[in-house]
Amino acid sequence: MTRPGSPDAYYRRAKSQGYAARSVFKLQEMDRRYGLLRPGQAVLDLGCHPGSWLQFASQKVGRSGRLVGVDLQEPGVSMPQGSCFIQADLLELTAAEVQERSGVEVFDLVLSDVAPHTTGIKDRDAAASLELSQAALDMALALLKPGGSFLAKVFFGPGVEDLIRQVKGAFKLGKAHKPDASRSASKEIYILGRGLKQARPG
Ligand SMILES: C[S@@+](CC[C@H](N)C(=O)[O-])C[C@H]1O[C@@H](n2cnc3c(N)ncnc32)[C@H](O)[C@@H]1O
Repeated sequence: MTRPGSPDAYYRRAKSQGYAARSVFKLQEMDRRYGLLRPGQAVLDLGCHPGSWLQFASQKVGRSGRLVGVDLQEPGVSMPQGSCFIQADLLELTAAEVQERSGVEVFDLVLSDVAPHTTGIKDRDAAASLELSQAALDMALALLKPGGSFLAKVFFGPGVEDLIRQVKGAFKLGKAHKPDASRSASKEIYILGRGLKQARPG
């Protein structure tokens, strides 16, 4: 059995395959299941440090794709060609700033693996995660093309059902998913929205 905090099989696999974090296997699984990433897409990755989602997404979108990463901290990997990094607090960043700083007007996919700095106080951590995930959804609704998709992590707690309802209302398909690579002790789930019904007027 893997002790909490000790390197688990996903961690060792990520290291051996040159990925910056074990989180890559969550995105890989959800991409396999839901077909999120495709060549040529413009993808916004919120909470992109240390960079494993950027690494995986860049392989999938290829040279014709565009990747924009946002985080408080710079990625630990070099940014793939054709991508850009915005160092910012998601809670303060506006959609117009993303467009201006990246040069990308609209996105096919908005990913958010943003996680707050945890305190160990369950309700406080869940509230902080919900605030970040709501900000990610607001950003996605402002920047996605009609038909675009959204995938965001949130710690399960009060208010998450409402977030899922918002996603179900805005997208043709809305659902929650817990990937295999997510530690069973973790409260995190991922909310997926596929096929934005209508872009928010600008
Ligand atoms: C679990 S990590 C993301 C891992 C990443 N998907 C990867 O595969 O490498 C969560 C990230 O959220 C970022 N974060 C937390 N609060 C944030 C905020 N208010 N604005 C922007 N990024 C934030 C943290 O700095 C951290 O790098």
